Amino acid sequence: MKESKQDVIQLLELPNEPGLGGVRLLLFDAERLPTHLSFEVGKLLSPAELRKSAKFRFPKDRLIYLTGRGMLRKLCGEMLQVPPNEIIIKEGQYGKPYLEGFEKKMPFNLSNSGSLISIAFEFTQREIGVDIEVIDKTFNYWEMAGYYFSKKECDMVYSHRDFYRFWTMKEALLKVTGVGLIDDLNTVDLSGRMNRIPIHDERLIPFKDKAFTLYTFDNEQIAFTIAISGAQHSDHFVGCMGNKDNLTVRHVYFY
Ligand SMILES: CC(C)(COP(=O)(O)OP(=O)(O)OC[C@H]1O[C@@H](n2cnc3c(N)ncnc32)[C@H](O)[C@@H]1OP(=O)(O)O)[C@@H](O)C(=O)NCCC(=O)NCCS
Repeated sequence: MKESKQDVIQLLELPNEPGLGGVRLLLFDAERLPTHLSFEVGKLLSPAELRKSAKFRFPKDRLIYLTGRGMLRKLCGEMLQVPPNEIIIKEGQYGKPYLEGFEKKMPFNLSNSGSLISIAFEFTQREIGVDIEVIDKTFNYWEMAGYYFSKKECDMVYSHRDFYRFWTMKEALLKVTGVGLIDDLNTVDLSGRMNRIPIHDERLIPFKDKAFTLYTFDNEQIAFTIAISGAQHSDHFVGCMGNKDNLTVRHVYFY
């Protein structure tokens, strides 16, 4: 994965994968945005978003929400040629945000970890979900894996990096559906290249017989997954262990 420029806001150049052709991914650090820009985008939020931001207990969480929503509005305004503060962001049944009037034209999803924020846009009318995680090497991943991962996945987890790779796959998959995290995460087994997943949670029933493709990138610092609706063709399935940036492509089919 290459970065197209070293600006504070980076448009990441995604690997040359057919399924990623319609995707644009932006990454920035909320704590490194110039003050004038944080201020400028903070002013774009709707009254409801401002009320929500006022409820965050910690200033860092407030900053992340304000800059995430603000940058989202600024970018959408530029791309759609509409005033950013007039954009209406609505939420689906389980909280997934979408742009009213542009839900088909420009699906998006947002994720943050630490002070990093990623916003993924899709321009070919497919649904998108994204999850980014900064790898915390002090975290007791083994306990979490035992609780949330399938037996086969646990057998593939030897390091923090392995844990975060699987975690972002699960979260991005559930975010592309709009359902968000479910209780029985261990029933969503993503250990193979092709994964047939029986539906246990009734919120996933609308996705019966639907396919998704997961693109996961990871290195020693960061892991993230972009999930796209549909079975996208790929010849790519890079092995799970390695020191360089890694791309892993997985297919999912709910039944
Ligand atoms: C969606 C969810 C996985 C996000 O968890 P998180 O640890 O905050 O993860 P991320 O940083 O990756 O994602 C946050 C972003 O995901 C988006 N999001 C929220 N709910 C979502 C959903 N159901 N599906 C997809 N994306 C969602 C939002 O853009 C949110 O950021 P914002 O509030 O600043 O706009 C988690 O909130 C969840 O499981 N929700 C379940 C649904 C739920 O409880 N809904 C309550 C209302 S019914």
